[in-house]
Amino acid sequence: MGDRGFTIRNFMSALFFKRFLQKPFQIASIIPSSKALVERVASKMDFSQPRIMAEYGPGEGVHSRELAARMDADSQLFLFELDRAFSRDLDRQFADDPRVHIINRDAASLAEELARRGIAQCDYILSGIPFSILEIKKKRALLQDTYDALRPGGAFIIYQVTNELRQHATFFDRAESEYCLQNIPPMFITVFQKALTRNGHVRVAPPTAKITAQRTA
Ligand SMILES: C[S@@+](CC[C@H](N)C(=O)[O-])C[C@H]1O[C@@H](n2cnc3c(N)ncnc32)[C@H](O)[C@@H]1O
Repeated sequence: MGDRGFTIRNFMSALFFKRFLQKPFQIASIIPSSKALVERVASKMDFSQPRIMAEYGPGEGVHSRELAARMDADSQLFLFELDRAFSRDLDRQFADDPRVHIINRDAASLAEELARRGIAQCDYILSGIPFSILEIKKKRALLQDTYDALRPGGAFIIYQVTNELRQHATFFDRAESEYCLQNIPPMFITVFQKALTRNGHVRVAPPTAKITAQRTA
C-alpha cells in the first residue's frame, strides 16, 4: 500500500493523538510504543507455558497484541484501561479472543477483578501507565498491590521515560533496567522480580520470568 493508503497503524496513532489531546496527563504520550520497544518488553517474558498476565494502561493495545500473539491457548490476559474510547477499541480488537479480558477500570482494581474470577495471582504484570505523575500515596499503594498480586517468581515490567519508580518499588526482590533508544521518547524498561525464596524459605511456585537485561542502569 502506498503513502496515501489507509493503514491500521495510522488509525491507531490518530486515535492515540486524539485521546492525548483530551486527557494529556492520563494518556501521557502522543504516539503508541514503537515496535522495537514492544519486542524488547515482550522478550522479558517466558511464554513457554500457560500464563496469567495483566497489563496496566494498554492504550490502543500495541503491547497487548504482541502478548496475545505470543501466549498460548490456555493463557489469560487482563487489560486495565481507564480511557473509555481505548477500552471500546480494545473490545473490538479482541472480540474473537476469549483469552483477553478488557476492564475499563483503574489498574488499582486488579486484586478485586482477579478475586472476582477466582484467580489467585499473576505470572506477569506489565505497565505503561504514567506512574511518575501519580500522587505518592497512590503510587505506593499500587506498587504494593502489584507485588501482592504476583506469584513468587513472577515479574512486574514497566516502560517509562524516567526510572524514578525504582526508588519506590524497594520491596521487590530484584530490579534490572535497560534503556531503549528506539522509541519516541526513549524509555527505561525495568523488570521488578518477586523472588521464589524469601528469608531462606522456598516459595511454592516454579520460576517464570526470563530476564535478559542488556544494560543495567
Ligand atoms: C502512555 S499511554 C501507553 C499506551 C500503550 N501501552 C503504549 O505503550 O502505547 C498510558 C495509558 O495508560 C492509561 N492509564 C493511565 N492511568 C491509568 C490507570 N490508573 N489505570 C488504567 N489505565 C491507566 C491511559 O488512559 C493510557 O491509555
